Amino acid sequence: MPPDESGIDGWLRYAPLSPEMASNFTQYTSIIALGNDETSPVLTAAKELQDGLNKILKQRANLSYDLATSTDVADVIVVGTIHNFSHAGGDVGHIPPLKEDGFWLDRSQNNSVQILGQNDRGALYGAFEFLMLLAQGKPCPFGYVSNPSAPIRWINQWDNLDGSIERGYAGPSIFFENMAIQDDLTRVSQYARLMASVRLNGIIVNNVNSHHDLLSPRNLAGLGRVADAMRPWGVHIGVALFFDTPKSLAGLSTSDPLDPDVIAFWDRITAQLYQHVPDLIGYLIKANSEGQPGPLTYGRTLAEGANLFADALKRYGDGVVVYRAFVYNHHLDESDWKNDRANAAVEYFEDMDTQFADNVLIQIKYGPIDFQVREPVSPLFCHLRKTSAIIEFQVTQEYLGQQSHVCYLPPLWRTILDFDLRIDGKPSPVRELLSGERFKWKRSGYAAVVNVGSDSTWLGSHLAMSNLYAYGRYAWNPRSDEVAVIQDWIRLTFSSHPTVVNVVTGISMESWPTYENYSGNLGIQTLCDIVKTCHYGPSPAAMDNNGWGQWTRADAHGIGMDRTVATGTGYSGQYPREVSQIFEKIESTPDNLLLWFHHVPYTHHLKSGKTVIQHFYDAHYEGAANVQTFAPRWEALSGLIDDARFKHVLFRLKYQAGHSLVWRDSINQFYLAKCGIADKHGRVGHHPWRIEAEAMDLTGYTVVPIAPFEAASGSKAIITTTSDKPGIAKCNLPFDSGVYNIAVNYYDHLGGTAQYKLFVGGRLIGEWAGDLSKVLLHDFSDLRDGHSATRITFDSVQVKKGDILEVVGTPDGTELAPIDYISVLPRGVID
Ligand code: GCU
Repeated sequence: MPPDESGIDGWLRYAPLSPEMASNFTQYTSIIALGNDETSPVLTAAKELQDGLNKILKQRANLSYDLATSTDVADVIVVGTIHNFSHAGGDVGHIPPLKEDGFWLDRSQNNSVQILGQNDRGALYGAFEFLMLLAQGKPCPFGYVSNPSAPIRWINQWDNLDGSIERGYAGPSIFFENMAIQDDLTRVSQYARLMASVRLNGIIVNNVNSHHDLLSPRNLAGLGRVADAMRPWGVHIGVALFFDTPKSLAGLSTSDPLDPDVIAFWDRITAQLYQHVPDLIGYLIKANSEGQPGPLTYGRTLAEGANLFADALKRYGDGVVVYRAFVYNHHLDESDWKNDRANAAVEYFEDMDTQFADNVLIQIKYGPIDFQVREPVSPLFCHLRKTSAIIEFQVTQEYLGQQSHVCYLPPLWRTILDFDLRIDGKPSPVRELLSGERFKWKRSGYAAVVNVGSDSTWLGSHLAMSNLYAYGRYAWNPRSDEVAVIQDWIRLTFSSHPTVVNVVTGISMESWPTYENYSGNLGIQTLCDIVKTCHYGPSPAAMDNNGWGQWTRADAHGIGMDRTVATGTGYSGQYPREVSQIFEKIESTPDNLLLWFHHVPYTHHLKSGKTVIQHFYDAHYEGAANVQTFAPRWEALSGLIDDARFKHVLFRLKYQAGHSLVWRDSINQFYLAKCGIADKHGRVGHHPWRIEAEAMDLTGYTVVPIAPFEAASGSKAIITTTSDKPGIAKCNLPFDSGVYNIAVNYYDHLGGTAQYKLFVGGRLIGEWAGDLSKVLLHDFSDLRDGHSATRITFDSVQVKKGDILEVVGTPDGTELAPIDYISVLPRGVID
């Protein structure tokens, strides 16, 4: 059994190759670094090569700095920039052109290796490429060139100064605590190492919902330390600014972007920031968005707001202003069928294209709403020509299971990156806009909200790390193959054993379509609770009747947003004609976006032949059924990977299996109640193997209604009558004697850690605690609802007909040991 691993090295574990495999590789005698500046990625690359060779091949190579002494010597690795190589007398004539950050990797006949970057960073990227191939047992290629698709490949952390992380699911911040930058930045440099290995070159270190204290003298100095920690890895930092900082930090009477004092304030701050961070990448601005102040607050245009920062940056350095397009009114009136939040970005930005300074970039979420399970690409990409753009993805799985559900995201990203917007009737795949090719942008590219935390797994789940790895790979090359990417990651992270590769590939590739099946189908978005802001479990009613505009417009007869020009909100008209014509008509809109663009009756027939409502029912059953296979498939990895990571993932996959059933039943019950159309397969609302807790004999337990009703089987659950005494729920098992899996559905919410015991025929079958938020590292809810609803299953329990089934629940704090139902499941039955 391999030794336990914590995940701290992610995919850079450099696991040793077997002696047979290692013997295929040459004995590298020395590494020559063309530069010995401690802050340079070239030296970092050389040290990384030394470390990697040592770990992967058990080789100890010397480090030296002089090319002249070693030209044409066998078995050396030279790493540096093209410029330094040529300067030291190396021949570069045969090397094809490299873009910024690109690299050349080559092996000669005498087994020497050249790793040459267009710049320092490129050299480091080449070294990582060499090592990551080696770690998979693959030889260094001959004459290999790699160039990035786009110059901007950044991460946005949403870390708050108090150390909490907005939409973070892996513990507190590695950057901040107690309103200041952390003293110990070890994790920050480890993070930069992971980023560099997948060629990410910039990071905004704090939340877009920023705070003026970020710019206190102490924190400015702290930002300098963060930049120092990341610089050797070629990662440069920027910050997100709070628009009203002039008022709140400096006590000015206004933050009006045209006010001379405000301009002088930002000049001063920018100058100070450049003193601490001379290679600052720039500012990220969330303004006039979700209650944040911005230029519109002061009667100025968005461009005037952005240019305020752009001018300050220009005076002191070459940073850029990244201005987020996430500007919308969150007090929309749903009763007006013409209102549509999806229209907002284009409405706010379309006339601004010529008005931004040339160091302003617009950062656009991939879809017009908010990182949903499926959205069409944001039409704002079609309205910017002069102003360059950055696409915003989320690696953090805010609406996609929050790292407690596995969801490998590249298949979703590809629906966006490959989409041809047909601007001016010409091929315009989104990836070509982002590369800058289509409109000749100098600076454009990618950002992703990542939100790593201080847990050793970085993202709270080992499997979720494939998304961080893949994000780097896609920002570098958006045409990457998602299977090839996941398989490289698997080999590096876990093992090259074919079972490991096949199982993890299978689960990963199925994970997003499966999640879509049991969350929100046909373009209706993730049907989670958007009002309580936790964006996690099912709560379809919460999507409507609020000002946030993430509406489904579901009523008794139909569902979906009519976003057509002809009869709806006009959104489809924001795309170029060829695209708009497709979405304008029901017949040409693909099923998977039907409800995004059209309001149709539940009985509408899809292209698949099914009705909308039957598709909902079937997809939820199929999706949840598929999740049940994940944990058993993962179990094949027992002994092939270390036990710590094996168990960590197994726990989450079992949890997901239970929560997917909560999703399935909530959504199906909700729409059955809405439209009254039965599932033609008779499953929805019929659960022959369930024992409702409210139907059991209760001592010290009482029955309560659950809201929303669909978050409980039968709309009711039981809770203990007091907060200090256990309750008992009992019944005689009505099923034939045999072997069953027994599942208990209960609610695990904040406010306490209830304890449970399950007995059958007087035998203790299992005991557990309601401590999921501690294990899964995120808060679900403080209520009994679709977020906190969960299941624990005990496999292969021998029962006799008439046996007493008994659950003893011991409350703690406000968690009153709530139970929804118990399923007694014959082998192969899922319910
Ligand atoms: C979403 C998310 C917020 C975040 C916002 C943003 O609404 O839920 O937490 O602040 O997006 O991107 O600015």
